[in-house]
This record gives sequence, C-alpha cells and structure tokens, in this order.
Amino acid sequence: MSDPTLDEKILDYHATSFSQGRMDFAWEELSDDERAQLYADWQAGKGLIGGHPKHRPGHERLSDWGLNQPVFRAFALADERGDNGVRLRADLDSDRTLEIEIGFGRGDFILDRARRHPDRLFIAYEVKTKAVRLMLSRVQRFEVGNLWLSDDDARVSLPAVLAPGRAEIVHVLFPDPWWKEQHKIKRLFSPPFVDLMADLIRPGGLLHFKSDVEGYNELVRYLVANHPSFAAHNPELADRIGPHLPTHREAWCGRKKLPVWASYFERK
Ligand SMILES: C[S@@+](CC[C@H](N)C(=O)[O-])C[C@H]1O[C@@H](n2cnc3c(N)ncnc32)[C@H](O)[C@@H]1O
Repeated sequence: MSDPTLDEKILDYHATSFSQGRMDFAWEELSDDERAQLYADWQAGKGLIGGHPKHRPGHERLSDWGLNQPVFRAFALADERGDNGVRLRADLDSDRTLEIEIGFGRGDFILDRARRHPDRLFIAYEVKTKAVRLMLSRVQRFEVGNLWLSDDDARVSLPAVLAPGRAEIVHVLFPDPWWKEQHKIKRLFSPPFVDLMADLIRPGGLLHFKSDVEGYNELVRYLVANHPSFAAHNPELADRIGPHLPTHREAWCGRKKLPVWASYFERK
C-alpha cells in the first residue's frame, strides 16, 4: 500500500534535536565472567529504564488517559476500571500473527506497519510515557485497531505478558547505544536479552535490528549469531518485512546521508 498523502500525514518528521554524536562504539567478545555478570545484573533488574515497573508508584493501576484505550502496563492488567487487560488477553489468545517493536520513539514505523497489515496484531513499547500518549492520539486519529502501546520497559513486560513463541517478528530499530561505561548496563542487547528474544519468537520467526552505529550492529551480530537459537544475519530476510516507512531516526539519517546497518536473524 502506498498513499503518499496519507504517508505524509502518518509521518511525524517535524524538527528534531538529533545529533550524530560520537560513533566510537567499542565492544569486545565477552569473557565468561563478564557474561555471568550480565546475567546477574539482569536477574537483579539493573539497567531497567525508570527502574522496575513493579516499583513505580501506582503500578497496578492504568493512567486515566489509558483507560479503555489500546494501552497496557504488564502489572496493571487486572485494573478493573478499564477493559484493557481483558481485551489484550483476548487479542493475545487469538492466532493472529504478532509483531513487536521495542523503543518506537515517534512511532512512524509501527503505525505504518499496522496500517499495512490489518490482519496482524502489533505491540509497541516505548518507555517515554509522553511519547506513548502522543502515539495514542495518532492511533485514535488514524483509527488503527490492531496496535497496542505500552510504556513498560519491554525487558520486564514481555515475559510477563507473552507466551513463549508467540511473536513472529521483533523489531529493535535504532536503540540507544548508551556510550558511557556507567550507562552500558541500560543497553538493550545483552546475552539475557537475546535469550528473551529466543524465547518469545516462534521458530521460523524474525529478529530485525537497525542502527546508525556500526559497532552496535557488530555487537548485535556477535551476540545473536552466537546464540544457539538464532541463525546468522541473512539480508534476504528483509523481503519478509517488505516495504515500510522509515523510523524517525532512519529518516533523519537518510536526509543527512548517513549510513545505516541492518541485521535480520531467523529464529531456528
Ligand atoms: C534512539 S531512540 C529510537 C527511536 C525510534 N526507534 C527511531 O528509530 O526513531 C530509542 C528509543 O527506545 C526507547 N527505549 C529504550 N530502552 C527501552 C526499553 N527497554 N523498553 C522500551 N523502550 C525503550 C527510548 O526511550 C527511545 O525513545
């Protein structure tokens, strides 16, 4: 589907404060000790954005603006003031093909994707609550009925909400590189995160990654391709995703003529 007028309306590419920033992303193969430390940190909930969702004040309640809207928090599914939990469960219990995006930012990519595939179900995570509210208004404006939004940290929310093997495709597009040593703990890709992806994506499904940071792409290829449940990056798998609008960051890179690296991994 390509309706340029509608694409223009869907896209949200107004002025941006992006800067290219530093590009000297350094990474090394992990020693056994480093790997063990990353698992211990994951177990302890370190590096979660905004802390553990269960420690957020009022985590068992939805925000009023989200009541009866396609919005959820994993630990507020039983909030009886809205039917969110019941509807999300019903959607997830269906056999509709499920795609997930982690860190949607402005949401252009996943909004376009949900419009193109009305028969599929979509869940999109963005820890910035304000971005979720803005996105919700676009979901309502364009009457997109197959897309759920959450401001949970996806690392905690996904295993709480999804059954193993439920997802067909997970998109992680231009995630924050977290350059500084003391911030690295917040980085999405780590061995336990790849385990989580292996658990959630059905055999034959796809993990889709993009970045304008070459070193991050290398790190992701090292972590995913060395995981027993994933095959090495295969560019031909891009066809399984097909035509799509760029994310906000990708559009910005395009305008600045900056290179972008993409990786596609099949779940074995
Ligand atoms: C660099 S931005 C890219 C946004 C968008 N994907 C794009 O390409 O324009 C990364 C986004 O991921 C979000 N994010 C980071 N860690 C997350 C997590 N664990 N769960 C959900 N969202 C996350 C951040 O808040 C941020 O908005």
